[in-house]
Amino acid sequence: MEITPEVHDKIKQIEKKYKAINQKTETHLEGLLWSKPITYWDYIQTDALLSLQTQRTTLPDEMVFIMYHQVNELLFKMILWEIDQIAHAEALSTKFFSERLMRISRYFDMLTTSFDIMGDGMEVEQYLKFRNTLTPASGFQSAQYRMIEFACTDWINLIDQRYRADFDRNSSFEHALDFMYWQAAGKDYRTGEKSYLLKEFERKYKKEFLCQMEVYNTSNLWQKFKQLPEADQNNPELVAAMRHLDKTVNITWVMGHYNAAKKYIESVPGNHEATGGSDWKKYMLPKYQRRIFFPELWTTDELAHWGE
Ligand code: HEM
Repeated sequence: MEITPEVHDKIKQIEKKYKAINQKTETHLEGLLWSKPITYWDYIQTDALLSLQTQRTTLPDEMVFIMYHQVNELLFKMILWEIDQIAHAEALSTKFFSERLMRISRYFDMLTTSFDIMGDGMEVEQYLKFRNTLTPASGFQSAQYRMIEFACTDWINLIDQRYRADFDRNSSFEHALDFMYWQAAGKDYRTGEKSYLLKEFERKYKKEFLCQMEVYNTSNLWQKFKQLPEADQNNPELVAAMRHLDKTVNITWVMGHYNAAKKYIESVPGNHEATGGSDWKKYMLPKYQRRIFFPELWTTDELAHWGE
């Protein structure tokens, strides 16, 4: 390699970088001599990723179920990544905010349009057999899904609307957690007792949820929006991106999920119990659930007909 002025300049920059952290550039250059060239499989960690699909039954379509859920969890992680970029941005521009929101919406749109992989991509007979081995687990126990909710909106918007008036910003996170809208799916609707599904979920994640509530209390998407100068809050592109996200997450995805779930749960005669045991039809529809991240961005009429 010819040591051109550009190469010389690069070496100077590298030296500056290592000097700043008290490191010897020579040692790092020597290290380069022995470092392995990167391969696709090492970088993407394909071996680790592809070793995570373990069936509980011998039915081939259970693999579709497992892998599609894993794809969802990866996308949830991508969504949280983008939210964090907004939450921690130092000088937040409307352009950056809108672009990151549209990324999140695209991920949720992808999850919605791909729901046919669940709806049409498994034999009902096989699903009805392997689902018995999964009781009482449910997608309800996806912690990342709850993390996304806490990171998108003020937690008060996630309180079951029957109790929302009893809460304000001074209420304790722990008390609030007990009245989240999703508690309704985790309680035995016949006795009102917390189900095993919910008890286990809280045993594993309660501390993390409380921490997430605190972190995002002042940095969730709605708070970041309200902290913008007033002119930015009226930026049409940003407002459209906020509304699009709210609808995509809380109506479009929810309906895609509901329609896939309905097909399987209703394919058996008799009382249609979900694996998690919720009063699922009532619980899962947006018009009853009324989870709305940014209610201030919708008209009274739009709010009245949410999810219809
Ligand atoms: C055949 C496929 C599916 C069926 C039958 C189904 C069924 C259900 C039901 C009945 C519930 C309500 C809680 C309960 O009683 O269990 C629920 C909740 C949930 N499921 Fe699924 N589900 C399916 C696929 C998925 C997939 C692929 C995901 C992606 C991770 C997912 C994520 C969730 C989440 C996040 C909840 C909680 C939603 C909320 O609280 O509003 N589900 N599911």
